Amino acid sequence: MTPMSACPAGPLNGLPAIPGDKSVSHRALLLAASAIGESRIHGLLEGDDVLATAAAVRALGCRAERDADGSWRVTGRGPGGLAEPDRVLDLGNSGTGARLLMGLVASQPIYTVITGDASLSSRPMRRVIEPLQRIGAAIWARSGDRLPLAMRGAEAPLPIDYTLPVASAQVKSAILLAGLNAPGRTVVIEPLPTRDHSERLLAHFGAEITVEPLPDGGRRIELTGQPELTARTVVVPADISSAAFPLVAALVIPGSQVTLEGIGVNPLRTGLLTTLREMGAAIEQRRPRDDGGEPICDLVVRAGPLQGVEVPASRVPSMIDEFPILAVAAACARGVTRMHGLAELRVKESDRLAAVAAGLAACGVGVDTGPDWLEVRGCDGPPPGGGVVTTHFDHRIAMAFLVLGLAAQAPVRIDDGTAIATSFPGFSGLMTALGAEIRVLATNN
Ligand code: S3P
Repeated sequence: MTPMSACPAGPLNGLPAIPGDKSVSHRALLLAASAIGESRIHGLLEGDDVLATAAAVRALGCRAERDADGSWRVTGRGPGGLAEPDRVLDLGNSGTGARLLMGLVASQPIYTVITGDASLSSRPMRRVIEPLQRIGAAIWARSGDRLPLAMRGAEAPLPIDYTLPVASAQVKSAILLAGLNAPGRTVVIEPLPTRDHSERLLAHFGAEITVEPLPDGGRRIELTGQPELTARTVVVPADISSAAFPLVAALVIPGSQVTLEGIGVNPLRTGLLTTLREMGAAIEQRRPRDDGGEPICDLVVRAGPLQGVEVPASRVPSMIDEFPILAVAAACARGVTRMHGLAELRVKESDRLAAVAAGLAACGVGVDTGPDWLEVRGCDGPPPGGGVVTTHFDHRIAMAFLVLGLAAQAPVRIDDGTAIATSFPGFSGLMTALGAEIRVLATNN
């Protein structure tokens, strides 16, 4: 356990370097492992989650190495060419790593055992087990749908036509990765569009994939199996889900101005920007450009008053990981913010709905929750703070409440900041360089 505290801070200023996108980093490694030849990945996130995926890729017989210039070289084995690992694959804290990897091995005739930490081992896997069984994989999971699990990939994988029961890019991606080694066409229908990094990267590596909008707002994705995937260069954009923390800190700490460069602004990831703008935030997008098949831009953020808003359920997939930090913005805003359609937050790295509500209450902020909603009564300025927040080994809960401490009237403590390294190594150093006061506390403090 690493307890930490954040103290009320003066204005934040600067140009912090935001680490690479976690979703794109996992996918870049897995697709490079599935392509023939040596791919190069620039800007890979070197957080614990992605390093666990890199280790898994190595255990599956691929080379994945970091060069002195910080880029990564991955030598793949082609679709269906992975070697049977001789050890258990431990994906640590990462739902994305575990679920996407399950998809990749599901259509290859190898035996794989997958595990994770206590948080990951408590998360539901039925959502991927069920479609992967239809493809032909045999899967034995603890308690029916939890890690650790063992699986034997299909000898003769079947292409499936699958409608997602939950809006989940992880489930969609697991099915598409499994479809890579199935003959014929794999179809995924998603009722609400979710992040499409897998679709973009599959096309980048040479797969035949089409995405069709449906009249009800959903999408139909069709992948032709057994493509020739060729090694490529991938440029990973900076992660908007990590940028969200200094971004909201700059909005709610008076006098701040922060510029975030090269941030991925894929429209399926920018729900937080839409919501913050509706709240009155000054966020300017400069130098829009495309890098490696993903739209990026620089974000210039200036502090200013925020107003409570309603966040509709239809927007949730485009900001699924940003609700903890949005709740912090809402706590500083004037009026009430209501967020709808949040059931999936209960099965993230922690039950984020419960963790956010408990953390806000501990910091003197008025809050109510239901099975799938959150209501935050804004303080119209600095919230009281002064609380101790339980993070449940959840990186985003940890970072969100450190930001709350910077904006509050009294310091906020978190019980454990260890999980921050899963997605944002260097977070507290980066925030401190902007002018924040974040400290690691001695365990007996
Ligand atoms: C992710 C998708 C989201 C998100 C997670 C990363 C991905 O999960 O919460 O942090 O990379 O596909 P779901 O798609 O399961 O909601």
